[in-house]
Amino acid sequence: MHEDVERILLTEAQIQAGIDRVAREVTAVYRGQAFTVVSVLKGSCVFASDLIRRIPIPLELAFVSASSYGEGVESGRLEVNFFPAESEIQGRDLLLVDDILDTGRTLSRLVDEMRRRGARSVRTCVFLDKPARRATPLSADFRAFEVDNLFVVGYGLDFAGHYRNLPYVGALKRECYERPRSAAR
Ligand code: PRP
Repeated sequence: MHEDVERILLTEAQIQAGIDRVAREVTAVYRGQAFTVVSVLKGSCVFASDLIRRIPIPLELAFVSASSYGEGVESGRLEVNFFPAESEIQGRDLLLVDDILDTGRTLSRLVDEMRRRGARSVRTCVFLDKPARRATPLSADFRAFEVDNLFVVGYGLDFAGHYRNLPYVGALKRECYERPRSAAR
């Protein structure tokens, strides 16, 4: 797995420092207010679990599952696999947490859906922001890092379902995402 990484873009120490900063920003905004962190599965599970443990004020946790089905490295049709329960959305202040803001289609759709389903407010928090890829105009309210338009994996981010368990963020070797999917490790 590690041998498929061209270079490390964010070390574990850099990641933790970035999350500390975002956690302070989130805490400052929500102090004194009940809110719910909604982790967008699967990618954000690693980030969300580190982030919430650095937020020293009361919060609730919920999950939404969305996937883009596309060929190779392009994002395609978006499917929302499941939403939080109605009671976890209606009248609530939600913080949608995702691992990467790429084209913006996933978070735009989820923000709209959460509002439509009665959320009182919806903010967004992303681990990585790749503004070069944006197709929908969306800025995250909180973000840990901006990254260049490279194929990044690790710390929750996958290619073909793998590499999420790398403890750092790395750029995947071109030969790994250009080889046939059946050969991906
Ligand atoms: C990835 C990532 C974000 C989304 C960002 O999810 O976790 O949710 O794509 O891309 P966008 O800004 O272009 O919409 P993916 O659909 O790969 O599912 P996963 O989280 O299960 O990996």
